[in-house]
Amino acid sequence: MRILSGIQPSGKLHIGNYFGMMKPAIELQKQGDAFLFIADYHAMTTVKDAAALRAMTRDVALDFLACGIDPQKTAFYRQSALPEVHELAWFLSTLCPMGLLERCHSYKDKVAKGIAPSHGLFAYPVLMAADILVVQSDLVPVGRDQKQHVEVTRDLAIRFNNSFGETFAVPEPSIRETVAVVPGVDGQKMSKSYDNVLELFGDPKTLKKRVMKIVTDSTPLEDPKDPTTCNVFALYKLFATEEEANDLAERYRAGGMGYGHAKKELLEKINAHFAPMRERRAQLEADPDFVEDVLKEGALRAGKIARETLRKARRAAGLD
Ligand code: ADP
Ligand code: TRP
Repeated sequence: MRILSGIQPSGKLHIGNYFGMMKPAIELQKQGDAFLFIADYHAMTTVKDAAALRAMTRDVALDFLACGIDPQKTAFYRQSALPEVHELAWFLSTLCPMGLLERCHSYKDKVAKGIAPSHGLFAYPVLMAADILVVQSDLVPVGRDQKQHVEVTRDLAIRFNNSFGETFAVPEPSIRETVAVVPGVDGQKMSKSYDNVLELFGDPKTLKKRVMKIVTDSTPLEDPKDPTTCNVFALYKLFATEEEANDLAERYRAGGMGYGHAKKELLEKINAHFAPMRERRAQLEADPDFVEDVLKEGALRAGKIARETLRKARRAAGLD
């Protein structure tokens, strides 16, 4: 089985990214041939500064390696090291009905947030389909907001196979429904576009301030509280064992415990969870060539498969 995921280097990674996509990708790397890439072509839709793109690409790579991506198991590469995806994106484009892209939420959402409505942004799901199909991936671990894009990918793979003969594996999304949407400090989906994130490797003081600012209701300290509607509890649950979560839920329901207390417990959990990764990140960062070597080696492995896929697709479409 092949497993592939990707992430845009367009900001600091946060706890939503971690539980929605990074952790599943890290856990799945043992289950088959794993591929992970930094979607720098995609990031060009929003990042227009070369130095910033380089720095964010390196940061994202360090974050993933610190969190547990093992370059022996996972071919880890830059999207731009596989220009074959563009040729494949064109093949898929010619089969992609306009309506399929017009129905994609992410374009409309991004434009509503003020991102310039370019052709690249509109056609983004076709490039994403090419990312997935170029390595013939069977499984795509992503957060729920990317599900529609994987459905577009399936649709395009089936259309290609129907037109030109069996060429592509039809991939499935892999979505952890328990953490499908991690809330941010304001209770909306945690997202870099909403300024509501808890960064993975940010400054500890900022993290503390942000945790203390998590929006809660105004139930007085002594009253019972409902854990199921509380953002602090929702985040705590991600880090806690079932027993710990049940224990905190009971204390919520008993009353007499303020949200400030729950926030402190959450902060401790976050710090404890990421402390070893923070240390590892610092070690990896000290070796300037490490990240570059990993990404180059990953590109060699993925590139070989990408070229094979393109040979097959060209032959199928009559371009050989
Ligand atoms: P952002 O919303 O911060 O811009 P991206 O859209 O770049 O994040 O998402 C990168 C990956 O992380 C995707 O697979 C996405 O589904 C996942 N993800 C992002 N935010 C969350 C969240 N709040 N909950 C669960 N998964 C998330
Ligand atoms: N669109 C994804 C995001 O914004 C990133 C991405 C690009 C991706 N190509 C992919 C994810 C292929 C999984 C598979 O998060």
